[in-house]
This record gives sequence, C-alpha cells and structure tokens, in this order.
Amino acid sequence: MSEPVNDPTARSGPPFRSAVVPAAGLGTRFLPTTKTVPKELLPVLDTPGIELVAAEAAEAGAEQLLIVTSPGKDAVAAHFADSSELEKELQSRGKDDLVAKVRRAHELIDVRTVTQDEAKGLGHAVGCAREAIGPDEEAFAVLLPDDLVLPTGVLATMAEVRRRHGGSVLCAFDVPRGEIAAYGVFEVTDTDDEDVKRVHGMVEKPAPDEAPSTLAAAGRYLLDRAIFDALDRITPGAGGELQLTDAVALLIEEGHPVHVVVHRGGRHDLGNPGGYVRAFVDFALEDPNYGPDLREWLASRLNG
Ligand code: G1P
Repeated sequence: MSEPVNDPTARSGPPFRSAVVPAAGLGTRFLPTTKTVPKELLPVLDTPGIELVAAEAAEAGAEQLLIVTSPGKDAVAAHFADSSELEKELQSRGKDDLVAKVRRAHELIDVRTVTQDEAKGLGHAVGCAREAIGPDEEAFAVLLPDDLVLPTGVLATMAEVRRRHGGSVLCAFDVPRGEIAAYGVFEVTDTDDEDVKRVHGMVEKPAPDEAPSTLAAAGRYLLDRAIFDALDRITPGAGGELQLTDAVALLIEEGHPVHVVVHRGGRHDLGNPGGYVRAFVDFALEDPNYGPDLREWLASRLNG
C-alpha cells in the first residue's frame, strides 16, 4: 500500500523504479508511414518521441523502461540497443558530437519489452507489464508516448504528492470543454495546494455536457500497484476497450486515494499529424541551428 505520510524514510530513494510506456498501437493516423515505421520513432526535430519520453522517465529516477509493444514493432526497442558499430564508424570520422547523440538512448535507462498480442486498450496494455514489475515495487510510472508534457519534471512533483497523500497520482491539464471528449476527465475538489486536487471520480471520453470538469488526463501516471488488481476487475468501456481510466475510477470507489497535479506548462500531442507538426516546429524554433532560419521563413510564409 501507500507509504506512511510522516515516515521520513519514505522520502529517501527514488519514487519508482519502473516506467511503463505503452507503444503497441498501429499508428493509423500516421499511415502510410506507419506501415513500416512505428509512430513512436517519428522524430521531433532529430530525436524520436519515445527517446524524449525515456529521458523524462530517467530524469525522474526510473531505472527500467518497460515498453509495451506489439508484433512488428521491434524497431522501437532496437532504438535503445547497443550501437557500437555505428559509434565506431562515427568515431573514425571524428564525429564525436554524433557519437554522443547515437549513444544517448542506450545509456539513458535499461529497456525491456513486454508484448501485447491484442489491441484491447490502454488498461490491458498496462496490465501486460505486471510480471515485469518487481514484487517489491509499490508504485510505478506510466508515460504515454503520444504526450509530451513540458517542461519535464511533473513526475517529480507527482512523486512528492504520493509521499504526502499516498495512493496514486496523475497529471491533469485544463482543456477547452469542446475538446474534452478526447480525454479521461477528473471529478475533483481542492486541496491546500492550488495545483493539487483530490480526485473523486474519473470518466473516459465523456460528452462535453457530461464531463465532470475540464481537467483532463495528460498521459503521466504514478500508480500504486493496487491498479493491477483493479485492471483484473474492469470490463470493456469507452470504445469497447479495457480503459486505464476505469481501473483508476474503481480504485477511487474503493477508497484508494487519488490526486492530480495540475500541469500549467506546455503539452504536445504527438499522436496525430496536426499535434506532431506543432511539436516539431516548437522544438525546431528553440534549436540554435534551425530556429533563426525557420522563424524567418515562417514569418514570410504567413505574410505571403
Ligand atoms: C488516453 C487515455 C486518456 C488520456 C489521453 C491523454 O487516450 O485513455 O484518458 O486523457 O490518453 O493523451 P487516447 O489518447 O489513447 O485515446
């Protein structure tokens, strides 16, 4: 169960060891590219989205990245494999900066894959990671690779909230009511911290007029291992899929504490071409090599 709130030893050590990244989807919104290239490997400027997410997990203290994958997507894990041949070649050409870039994914974090044979939903995908999470791990993180939550660091805040309140902690962001039907949505009350809310219910993809708030789940979860037992007990929900949201809702009903950290920064949705383009442009504008030219070109393109 949750760590005792006032136990000083609960404050030491990393908040979680494993981070689960569900990456088994077909990527239909990126067809035809995703016939052969997994969408998680599409570059944001020059780096695959999943490497950005892996770096975020490592920065938060995770030691193991559990990628939930499906047959035919071996390239996702291969991106994190040893690349010493390529490194040697680059070294012999004196390209030390490129060696560092190539090596980064492999050195960031230990990667293991877990196979999801059938596309039964996010809840099912997370459940597939169960055996790979040690019996002593009280909590673990889930990062949805479609979501970039910027600046990074929200997982550390979420871990702090778990230390304080116990239970599970999710990340929320405020979306316009008209867009709420795309998300898991929270029913909340305030706490003494403006950016932390207590969650009393959660519903997946509600109609806008039925949504309990405009606070939507942003693809970052710090889940107590009690979620696995809840995942065993849910039935197909929105879209006919086993929803992680429904397992969280079940835990809440049974008295498990759930809080959200309201993220006030930026967010990109890499899961569709429109959101992906924004992320790409955003990263490119910040880049010292490409930013200045791009800014100039965009300005003239928009005025032209
Ligand atoms: C998933 C979750 C949803 C969450 C969203 C964030 O939905 O089921 O609760 O709000 O990610 O991106 P999906 O985007 O896979 O439909």
